[in-house]
Amino acid sequence: MNENNIEWTKLVDVKSFEENPEQLLKVKRDDILVVKANDKFYAVNNRCPHLGMSLHAGGCNLKDGTVHCKFHSSTFSFETGEVKAWLNVKGFEKFMGWLFSKFDPDIKKMMAMESTPLEIFKTKVEDEYVWVGINQDY
Ligand code: FES
Repeated sequence: MNENNIEWTKLVDVKSFEENPEQLLKVKRDDILVVKANDKFYAVNNRCPHLGMSLHAGGCNLKDGTVHCKFHSSTFSFETGEVKAWLNVKGFEKFMGWLFSKFDPDIKKMMAMESTPLEIFKTKVEDEYVWVGINQDY
């Protein structure tokens, strides 16, 4: 990663995380999910790498450092972006996915997509504000 190509954006007051440790914030056209856990700040792209659905809807587990996509049950580390579980649908949802894939090849392709890590961003605290650093190479 080219450190010179990171554009830093001032986001919100550090204190606001005391009441709300998971915040969905807009940076230009991107939705960034910022999380405070163990006195550190993490920022990830709110779009799930599977089909781009909102990760904020599934929420974070601050204890194990993960964010969950509720749409097809994938879980990622919000610290590293690593995939912890991918398309982990079970029970009735799994059955319905199997059934629909018999009639719609796009659903079959969608549920066969390769595991993809979550995009993460740098953060820093300056003047009691949280900042996010987005690499402009992408
Ligand atoms: S959109 Fe997130 S797992 Fe499918």
